[in-house]
Amino acid sequence: MHVEPLTCTIGAEIGGIDLGAAAQDDALMAEIRTLLLRHRVLFFRDQDITRAQHVAFARRFGELEDHPVAGSDPEHPGLVRIYKSPETPNDRYENAWHTDATWREAPPFGCVLRCVECPPVGGDTMWANMVEAYARLPEDVKQKIDGLRARHSIEASFGAAMPIEKRLALKAQYPDAEHPVVRTHPDTGEKVLFVNAFTTHFTNYHTAANVRFGQDYSPGASQLLNYLISQAFIPEFQVRWRWKKNSMAFWDNRSTQHYAVMDYPPCERKMERAGIIGDKPF
Ligand code: SIN
Repeated sequence: MHVEPLTCTIGAEIGGIDLGAAAQDDALMAEIRTLLLRHRVLFFRDQDITRAQHVAFARRFGELEDHPVAGSDPEHPGLVRIYKSPETPNDRYENAWHTDATWREAPPFGCVLRCVECPPVGGDTMWANMVEAYARLPEDVKQKIDGLRARHSIEASFGAAMPIEKRLALKAQYPDAEHPVVRTHPDTGEKVLFVNAFTTHFTNYHTAANVRFGQDYSPGASQLLNYLISQAFIPEFQVRWRWKKNSMAFWDNRSTQHYAVMDYPPCERKMERAGIIGDKPF
């Protein structure tokens, strides 16, 4: 196995490994876990593996979960299909910087994504290192957000374009979650900036210092939230990956955000994602 870092802050390409066989090898799996914590997203080329092998690899890191909006492969529960085709030109939901499913009480540990079909050019995915994004914040901003909490909503994201009854049913099934704005990585103890496109508002912004009059809340809180969300857009925290058929990516969802670049329609792009259940952020 060889490891080639792709940037100074995030991402490494791993060569000389067959992920189809890796799930049987405890020592190799331990090494991959260590590399994931170090590089946050691992990339692999030429993984001509079966769906069962894809699932078996991801299952070594925890149970898998389906997605309430994107369907899964009927024979492989937990393997979510992210299929885009010229017949669905308006289906553009993944196109925002996000950490997967922070609208859940316990968002995923990580995801293993495999490219089944991709356009000849375009359709890259980008990831951002949110530990670095936190570390590089100005000290006064770090102080201001210490102890702050925020709401994350499936209703305001996946539900936003749904008819009202469907949207309310989705919200009833997945009530908005509340998470710390700065979470602690459960494995490394690192601080992670933890707001993204699913975050709607702060829940405890109303201190005497922040809100003199009710009038202060909306601009003060929304400007701060937008500023924090925009940190993922900074190129120094990012890596960009160009897909080929049978390329795979495995990311730590607790310390990263990602963005699937929607520059390729009307081409076909088919991805399959195994999302591994995580724990409640603290
Ligand atoms: C995702 O947002 O998890 C999917 C990323 C992609 O399709 O590249």
